[in-house]
Amino acid sequence: MKNINPINTDAWKKLQQHFIEIKNIHIKNFFDKFPNRYKTMFRNFQDAIFIDFSKNRLNEETLNLLFQLCEETHLRSAINAMFEGKKINVTENRSVLHTALRNRTIHPIFSGNLNVMPLIHDELNRIKNFSDTVIQGIWKGYTEKNITDIVNIGIGGSDLGPKMVVESLKDYQNHLKIHFVSNIDGSHIKSVLDQVNPETTLFIVVSKTFNTEETLFNAHYAKEWFFKRTKLKNIKILAKHFIAVSENITKTISFGIPRENIFQFWDWVGGRYSLWSAVGLSIVLSLGFDNFLSLLDGAYNMDQHFFHNEFYNNIPVILALISIWYMNFFNTETEAIFPYDQNMINFPFYLQQAVMESNGKSINRLGKRVQWKTCPVIWGSPGTNGQHAFYQMLHQGTTLIPCDFIISITPNHTLLEHHNRLTAHFIAQTRALAFGSNDNFLKCKYHNQDKDFLHIFQSLQGNHPSNSILLNHLNPFSLGSLIALYEHKIFVQGVILNIFSFDQWGVELGKQLASEIYADITSSCSTIKYDTSTNNIINLCKKRKKN
Ligand code: F6P
Repeated sequence: MKNINPINTDAWKKLQQHFIEIKNIHIKNFFDKFPNRYKTMFRNFQDAIFIDFSKNRLNEETLNLLFQLCEETHLRSAINAMFEGKKINVTENRSVLHTALRNRTIHPIFSGNLNVMPLIHDELNRIKNFSDTVIQGIWKGYTEKNITDIVNIGIGGSDLGPKMVVESLKDYQNHLKIHFVSNIDGSHIKSVLDQVNPETTLFIVVSKTFNTEETLFNAHYAKEWFFKRTKLKNIKILAKHFIAVSENITKTISFGIPRENIFQFWDWVGGRYSLWSAVGLSIVLSLGFDNFLSLLDGAYNMDQHFFHNEFYNNIPVILALISIWYMNFFNTETEAIFPYDQNMINFPFYLQQAVMESNGKSINRLGKRVQWKTCPVIWGSPGTNGQHAFYQMLHQGTTLIPCDFIISITPNHTLLEHHNRLTAHFIAQTRALAFGSNDNFLKCKYHNQDKDFLHIFQSLQGNHPSNSILLNHLNPFSLGSLIALYEHKIFVQGVILNIFSFDQWGVELGKQLASEIYADITSSCSTIKYDTSTNNIINLCKKRKKN
């Protein structure tokens, strides 16, 4: 990938000038001038996802300059490099091939000299065979009972993606109950183990490295719990109840899980991009293999869209550029994600890792500190709940917050009147944010008070940007497409902003310190080896802890 600092491009300089010209133009005025902008700022992805980005503070010229920025930063060749398996994860010397995981053609794709496609397809077959036996009740527990509960033990990418998909597609679930344990906080695993029976529970330990403290500690705890509850300390019996997904086969076997129970994770798949692999076993067990294939197909179709379409018609590229525009010209700090879908409650949490672990970087690809913004803070929660909590600030606060509103046009349930009302709120919010209030709205309220004074407090200025993302229907295909859309948006931003999106060195120091501090917390003497604040907190915990 080329190392072009975006701020040195012609496009960036022109965007700076252009920003001065249009920064004070109200969204309302953009519409007054070009009422048809809703047509040019609307894209249809295979009748599965519709995107309206007309309620943004930009015009055609902004978009053209942003497309020029893509050209000057060689986005096209970076896209090709990723899809071809080039080692674009430079600091870890790895290919980035999550796109290959959803590619079911036989066209070879190489990481180094290795054609990864046969490996992916073989593993997919294993996933199918295994999940079919569990779902159909052919796989038995140690007392010959059918499996009823699945406990996924993993954290970060080994948890957030699968959990989000399982929850989002609740309406497609079969009889198996899926639980997720991630936190090292004992109350997490306790609350799950309290609900399950060892005779009918299957644990899936998911860890790329098999080195992550939280996952290993929880997995060991689950194993001990299993031995204690069954009163059988037998490794053969354990094999009926413990499965693993890992790249580290040796460590997984020494944990006690036999080779035939281990599904493969590869170094060319990043944790936060891995739900398409065996990391998604909990998804397959919950929805069945065919639905998992639809999820993969949805993502594959978005991959094809991203790979082939010119930037003007490329949805991930457009959304990435809009985000760069706000972050680096309007100086915004955050982006909000509002799924108007209760089942998508975990979507913002999933995106937090995907976006912030990928692009939360301040060193460019040449090893120099950047002088531009690389990553927004991602936050959000399902509508309409947010409307009664923090939307006040979106409408009248001092901070500009670009938002993505997501809704399914047809619900999975039959409470159509609920859905009509939900949709009305979704549309109302994007309209209120963009256009603000008008005098009619003000007149109908508090008409017998001092109108001019109240006017100041009641009026909403609008001019708050949002994208409306409408799924025709929330199903495995459209969800797969939506996730892939955001994955590619992240990639585009990393390329243009000249950072490495696929490593995560920033998380390592905390892990190291925690293991050092663990030794101090559990030793009998007080510590003086850190800064005074840290020493004091460690010693306070030791002194006050009830044993
Ligand atoms: O610490 C961050 C991280 O490495 C994430 O990138 C990853 O998804 C998570 O930990 C879990 O890692 P593993 O799958 O190796 O247990």
